Amino acid sequence: MNTNDRRSLQGKRILLIIGGGIAAYKSLDLIRRLRERGAEVRVVMTQAAQEFVTPLSAGAIAGGHVYVDLFDWRTEFDIGHIRLARDTNLVVVAPATADLMAKIAGGHADDIASTVLLAIDKPVLLAPAMNPHMWSNAATRRNLAQLVADGVTVVGPNAGEMAEQGEAGIGRMAEPLEIVAAVESRLAARHETAGSLSGRRVLVTAGPTHEAIDPVRYIANRSSGKQGFAIARAAAAAGADVTLVTGPVPLADPPAVTVIRVESAREMLAEVDRALPADVAVFAAAVADWRVAEPGAQKLKKGAGGTPKLDLVENPDILATVAHGKSKRPLLVIGFAAETEHVINNARAKLDRKGCDWIVANDVSPATGIMGGDRNSVHLVTRDGVESWPNEDKQTVADKLIARIAVTLAAAAK
Ligand SMILES: Cc1cc2nc3c(=O)[nH]c(=O)nc-3n(C[C@H](O)[C@H](O)[C@H](O)COP(=O)(O)O)c2cc1C
Repeated sequence: MNTNDRRSLQGKRILLIIGGGIAAYKSLDLIRRLRERGAEVRVVMTQAAQEFVTPLSAGAIAGGHVYVDLFDWRTEFDIGHIRLARDTNLVVVAPATADLMAKIAGGHADDIASTVLLAIDKPVLLAPAMNPHMWSNAATRRNLAQLVADGVTVVGPNAGEMAEQGEAGIGRMAEPLEIVAAVESRLAARHETAGSLSGRRVLVTAGPTHEAIDPVRYIANRSSGKQGFAIARAAAAAGADVTLVTGPVPLADPPAVTVIRVESAREMLAEVDRALPADVAVFAAAVADWRVAEPGAQKLKKGAGGTPKLDLVENPDILATVAHGKSKRPLLVIGFAAETEHVINNARAKLDRKGCDWIVANDVSPATGIMGGDRNSVHLVTRDGVESWPNEDKQTVADKLIARIAVTLAAAAK
C-alpha cells in the first residue's frame, strides 16, 4: 500500500453487507483493507452469507457486532436498522448475489440486508459475484440496468475461473483492493459535494430527442439519458434545486428532482427557457441536429411513388442559444460533446463556437460502449485546458462534475 493511501478512508463509516456466495470469504479481507485505511466498518450478513463465513470471523476482523437479524430486539434497541442506514457514508454489498440484486432492484425489505438497503440515502456500491450463467441471465441483466438507473455503482464482476470446477466466464467478484479503490473514488466525489450546492438552481438536459417523420416514425439517436440523469441526481444530492428536461428515455425520475419529459428539440428548448434562470445549466442531451421539414400528417405509405424524400431543416441549437443569451445566461453553461473522432480538438472548437464555459467531451465510437453503457471516459475541456478523467461509472463522473461545479461557483461568489 502506498503510504499516501494509508488513511484514505479516515473518519469514514462503511456499512458492508455480505451476501450468500462463495466469494464471501474475500469480504473478510475487504474488511481488513477498509479498516487499515482508517474506515470504521459495520457488517450486516444475510442468512445465506452465514453458510459461507461466520459472524464471529467477520465481527472479529471488523472489531464489532455483526448484524444478522432484523427482529433482534437487542440490536434494534441498541442501534436499529434505520440508524444503521443513516450513520454511514457508503454501503458496500460484497458479494452482491443475484438474489440480493433482485431484491434491491425490486425494493424488497424482508431481512436486515434488504431493509437497510431500502432505507439508505447514501451511495451504494455493489460487487456482484455469481456463476456466469446467473450473471448473463435476462433477469439479472434487467435488475442490473434498474440498479444502475437508480444510481447504484457497480464494481466488477471480473472474468476468470469460478469456484465451481470447470466453470469460467464473467462472474468473479472484484478483488478487495479493486473494491477499496471504487469506495475511495465514490466517496471522494461525494464528500466534496454534500450540501455544496444548496440554494443553487441547476438545469440539466438528458436523453435523445425524437423528431417526427410521420405520426408513427421518428429520427432519434442512441443516447440513453443515463449520464444526464446521474448529473441531476448528483446535483440534487449536493442540495441544489434541480430541473431535468429529458427526451424520451425509460428511466425513473431521480429523487428530489423536477423532471420534465419532452419529445423534440423544439419542445426541449421551450422547456429549458421556461426553467431558466439557473445558476448552472448542464446540457447532456443528445439533441437532434435536424428535423424533417414537413412531417407527414398521416403515416407515409409504401407505393408506386417510390421512396419518400425527407427534407431536413436544422433544429435550434439549445446550448448556443442559452450560452449566448443576454438576460438569463446561467453563471456556468456546460455542454457535452459526443464525438467519434478528434474528440478533444472538436470539443475545443465547440467551446468557442457555442460560447459555453466547459465542454465534457467523450468518444462515443461503438467500440467504446459509452453510448447506452454504464461507464464513461470524459475529457473536461475548459478555457484553462483539458483534463482527462479515468473510465468510471456514470454516477461517479456525475459526482465529480458536480464537485467541480460547486468549487467553481464558490470561487466565483468570493
Ligand atoms: C455453494 C453455493 C454457492 C453459491 N454461490 C453463489 C454466488 O456466488 N452468487 C450468487 O448470487 N448466489 C450463490 N448461491 C446461491 C445463494 O446462496 C442463494 O441465492 C441465496 O438465497 C442468496 O441469499 P442472499 O442473497 O440473501 O445472501 C450459492 C449457493 C450455494 C449453495
